[in-house]
Amino acid sequence: MRSGPFCGGSLVAPNFILTAAHCTEGFSPSDLTVLINWDDVQNTNPAIGEPRQISAIVDHPDYDWRTLENDVSLLYFEEPSTYRPAEIDNGAWSQVGQVGPVAGWGRINNGFPSEFPDRPHSVPVPVVSNEQCNSPPSYPGQVTDDMICAGETGKCSCNGDSGGPMFTEVEDGLDFVTGVVSWGAGECGAADKFGVYARVSWFKDWIMSYIEPDSPKL
Ligand code: ARG
Repeated sequence: MRSGPFCGGSLVAPNFILTAAHCTEGFSPSDLTVLINWDDVQNTNPAIGEPRQISAIVDHPDYDWRTLENDVSLLYFEEPSTYRPAEIDNGAWSQVGQVGPVAGWGRINNGFPSEFPDRPHSVPVPVVSNEQCNSPPSYPGQVTDDMICAGETGKCSCNGDSGGPMFTEVEDGLDFVTGVVSWGAGECGAADKFGVYARVSWFKDWIMSYIEPDSPKL
């Protein structure tokens, strides 16, 4: 079992976190705690943030660990969060050229030793087309319809950001989640090596079927 933060996620309903399936793979619910709105790793201000023990993991049934297709997972916990959940993008915030931050606790350098921030970082990244992302010099043949790419040279997600959001802030506290950090090149922010995300709008119906109030699915 690992201890310490290793992936990100987004609060999408009072009792659910959306994250990446490759983050939850191999874990039992009781292995996992989510730290909602945590501010710094040491938790120097316990008044901020809500820890929640996970009681169910719902991995996407078609998640494929080799191709990373359908890299989404939902984490359910009993005691509702008091923070405002993010909205699920219906595609309106997934347009090419749309710029939104990707946020997380992931690595902040390339090379060794790896460096990780004490507080979450974010960087604005522009959405690029699947056609471009799926061609040389990016990732020919590896980007499927359920994925969305974003980034530019020097601006990318990196290791440890997985599961976390690429989103658009519409107004104070109202965020639309567009992507779930999934994969990318070994060198974060290399030219043409965009960050690849699970395309949240592609999974909207699947997500809603669990998180809608009174969903019978859990
Ligand atoms: N799979 C990675 C993780 O463990 C996310 C990698 C994102 N990498 C990138 N080069 N954009 O956190």
